[in-house]
Parts: sequence; C-alpha cells; structure tokens
Amino acid sequence: MTYVLGIETSCDETAVAVVNDGRQIVSNVVASQARIHERYGGVFPEIASRQHILHIVPVLEEALAQAGLSLDEMGAVAVTYGPGLAGSLLIGVNMAKGLALAAGLPLIAINHLEAHIYANWLDSEEEIEFPLVCLIASGGHTNLVLMTDHGKYRSLGQTLDDAAGEAFDKVARLLGLGYPGGPEIQSAAKDGDASAFDLPRAWLKGTYDFSFSGLKTAVLYLVRDYDVKRELAGGDGGVPVADIAASFQAAVVEVLVEKTNLAARESGARQVLLAGGVAANALLRKQMAERVSVPMLCPPPEHCTDNAACVAAVGWFKLGSSQRAGWDLDVVPGLQLVPQDSTS
Ligand code: KG4
Ligand code: ZN
Repeated sequence: MTYVLGIETSCDETAVAVVNDGRQIVSNVVASQARIHERYGGVFPEIASRQHILHIVPVLEEALAQAGLSLDEMGAVAVTYGPGLAGSLLIGVNMAKGLALAAGLPLIAINHLEAHIYANWLDSEEEIEFPLVCLIASGGHTNLVLMTDHGKYRSLGQTLDDAAGEAFDKVARLLGLGYPGGPEIQSAAKDGDASAFDLPRAWLKGTYDFSFSGLKTAVLYLVRDYDVKRELAGGDGGVPVADIAASFQAAVVEVLVEKTNLAARESGARQVLLAGGVAANALLRKQMAERVSVPMLCPPPEHCTDNAACVAAVGWFKLGSSQRAGWDLDVVPGLQLVPQDSTS
C-alpha cells in the first residue's frame, strides 16, 4: 500500500489529492477559481497565481484531513510541472518541493496531459490494454495519441489552432453564456436543434489533426447577422442561442468522434480513452461509445476536468520505475506529451 500526494495548480484549479497504489482515491480536494475568472471570459493568469497562493495550504490540509493521514505516511509527492500557466505552476511545484524536502519523500514531476489520461483508471477495475488510442481534449490541448505502454506515447495528431475546449469557451462568450463555456453550451444545447445550422467541419483529410478556428468564426458571423437583423427590426428578435449551441456542439463532437474512430481502426488499438475537460461532454461520450468498435473508457465527468488525483495516479507509476525529479525541478509551461522531434 503506497500513498502518493498529488498537487495540481497548472491553470485555475488548486487541487491536492491522496491516491493509494495509483488507482484508489483516498481524498481529492479541488478549489475552483471559475467564478472569479468568469467576468473575464477566460483565465486571468496573474489572478490565478495569487489565488493559488491563498488556497494551496488550506486545500493541502483538507486533503490530508479527509484522508486521515499525515505527510509522513505518503510514499511520494507528485506535482504538475507543465504544461500550463508559469505563475500558477510555480505555486504547486514550490509547495511540492517544500513538502518532499521536509518529509524526506521522493519528488515526482508530472506532465498535466499524462495526468488527464490516467484519470481513466482512478477508482476503476478496468484492465488497461495496449496499444490504445487516447483523445485528450481540454481547454489548452486537443491531441490524438497512440499509447503503447505506460509512459510510452506516439503523437498521431493535434489541433492546428484552437483547442476544442477553447472553442467551447470562445463560442460560449459569443453567445453571452458563462465561463467555462463547455458545460454552459452543453446545457443550452439541450433545448436546441442540432440541425438548425450547418456549421463547417474541418476534416483535414489524410491527417489526424484538428482545426476549430473556422467553426468559431462561422459562429461569430452567424451571431453578427442576427444582431444586424435585430437592429433593422427595431430591437425585436434575438440570437437563437440554443440552436447555435446545439449545432456548434454537434460539429465539434462529430469531428472528434470520426478522427478518433479512424485512428483506433487504423492503428489496431484495443481500447479508446477519452481525457481532459471536454471529455466531460455528454454528447461526445455517447457518440464515441456508439461509434468505436473497441471498448471505450472515459473518466466520470468530475475526473475529466483538472484535479490532483490523476496527478497522484501517474506519480505512483513513475515511483515504481524510479523516475524522480531533482530539487532543481522547474516549471515548463509549453511542455508537450510527445516532444515534437521524436515519435515515442
Ligand atoms: O482539462 P481542463 O479542466 O483544463 C485544461 O487542462 O485546459 O479542461 C477545461 C476545458 C474548458 O475549455 C471547458 O470549457 C471544457 O474543458 N469543458 C467542457 C465540458 N466541461 C468542461 N467542454 C464541453 N463539454 C463539457 N461538458
Ligand atoms: Zn487540464
């Protein structure tokens, strides 16, 4: 039985968790700053790092209290060191170094994208079957990767412009909905007709890459047209928010599902995994499950978005293969899952 303390501060969630043997969540505390950043329509980096400073100690104390364990009972401290906002990452990394040094524990550096992937095995009995194809779709990333073993990844494709979550956030803003945009669009879309507007899908045939900026611009023009019409009509009428939200959501989901399905077929994958905040989307989960022919795993929605339990989960695997970080560990805001000049 080995407990790993996980710490996550890459964006606007201050999170600390205790996980046993890489899979069993003992405690999982997340302090979200979403309400604070809502007024800016996105994360305000300077405010995010200041909020992390305020919350990191109470969140740590709460995570240990809920676990009923002390720092001395941990086997390691695992922390996200990238990708993310530099000022935010620094708070978690410095806290982790202090804790590990004080308690004489190994320090383990975690890639945030890898943490999202490992959320799939938290509190689950599922067997991991390699090779598998994983779609990581978050606010900052949209990547299709082939995972051939623990910690072994090959990049299949990625977004050439906006990340899928970023597109949800920007379109929500255009529609006058709140932040984060994903859950807002999902809920607005429930009352909408997904076939109301034929929005563009960037297929980028022959690649596993994605592009969402054209779709976002199409929504921008659509909203402008309605605003102009409303002005001409003397203020009557308005933007059909539910129909646009439903049509936009359908367009994003269709591309994500088709590309992932094709990647799974062509690579001979034995499983498909969803990861990242956008994997919380109900339509994506439903359509992916219907479309792919191999078993599909996706974490429960609350584990798709940022948390520290998945950081601790990766930490446990890395502890097993003696991958420890030095005390000179620094943040890497632009960290990738697969370095661009390599394929594994
Ligand atoms: O993984 P995450 O919590 O943070 C990053 O690493 O970026 O992902 C946040 C993103 C946001 O863009 C948010 O709008 C999106 O995930 N998201 C969703 C849903 N829940 C969160 N997108 C679509 N549908 C959802 N239900
Ligand atoms: Zn994330």
